Amino acid sequence: MSSPFRKATSMGELEVEKHANYILSVEKKKDDFESVVMEHLRINGAYWGLTTLDLLGKIDEVNSEEVVSWVMKCQHESGGFGGNIGHDPHLLYTLSAIQVLALFDKTNILDIDKVSNYIAGLQNEDGSFSGDMWGEVDTRFSYIAICSLALLHHLNKINVDKAVKYIVSCKNLDGGFGCTPGAESHAGQIFCCVGALAITGSLHHIDKNLLGWWLCERQVKSGGLNGRPEKLPDVCYSWWVLSSLIIIDRVHWIDKEKLVKYILDCQDKEKGGISDRPDDAVDVFHTYFGVAGLSLLEYPGLKAIDPAYALPVDVVNRIFFGR
Ligand code: FPP
Ligand code: ZN
Repeated sequence: MSSPFRKATSMGELEVEKHANYILSVEKKKDDFESVVMEHLRINGAYWGLTTLDLLGKIDEVNSEEVVSWVMKCQHESGGFGGNIGHDPHLLYTLSAIQVLALFDKTNILDIDKVSNYIAGLQNEDGSFSGDMWGEVDTRFSYIAICSLALLHHLNKINVDKAVKYIVSCKNLDGGFGCTPGAESHAGQIFCCVGALAITGSLHHIDKNLLGWWLCERQVKSGGLNGRPEKLPDVCYSWWVLSSLIIIDRVHWIDKEKLVKYILDCQDKEKGGISDRPDDAVDVFHTYFGVAGLSLLEYPGLKAIDPAYALPVDVVNRIFFGR
């Protein structure tokens, strides 16, 4: 089998070892993975940290059995996952749980009907999704439901036509998408809507030139990307904006070299980790989106990441093509 890593002619300036050690050190500060996840990261943090390690080629340094057993303890009797053991279930945590299991090729240990019934049960009459039983509606939850069910091969559990219709009703005159109908365009929400439309084969609803224009306008002088007009650049938008541009085939409209430089400038070159802006404090969230952004930019030595599923391409291929 060919290697999933991009050929590394030179690793350039990305501090691969230091970033891996930074992620692992968050884990090792306490006795075991579980207790640290409890305090700092929760299940979303486990997804960010573990996906970063996989993209860097370091996931083998983690005890996968320990992680998988902890993830399964976060499942609620409803079928959904909480952010930690004993916490209430929510779609946000359920997708992270599925993604972590997918990284370790362990989705087969799930009671797939139970999880997918939980997700499908959160679809509303108008096609939208609530995040949990309390009912908040947001296109983030449409993406999460669609991505989760696709990874479990159970998209047929929901009304996909209605789900797509709702997402399209959140499209704005500027070509972007918001969290509910009429809400302003926001790059994070655009990722969710474009990703969900990609997964459901519905990209024809997007005006690619109009949206591509709005997205490439997010690049500021420093090379970084912001999430809305007049906002400061932030490394996490390297993911939300770039993944959307790639899906609609307009990534050549931004200056890739300048963006690579911006992300590299946000590294803590001594202790590892990546921050939102140069010289700010690092965290696992921005370390993940920095590395994932560099992967989308085909930075040498990193595994490729899928822009719609937000998982390494080899993991996505294993799920959909069994290899
Ligand atoms: C910006 O948030 C980002 C969003 C609104 C999108 C969030 C998407 C998900 C939770 C779906 C799952 C994501 C992946 C990658 C699998 P923010 O609160 O930082 O926005 P701000 O910059 O306006 O504060
Ligand atoms: Zn950010």
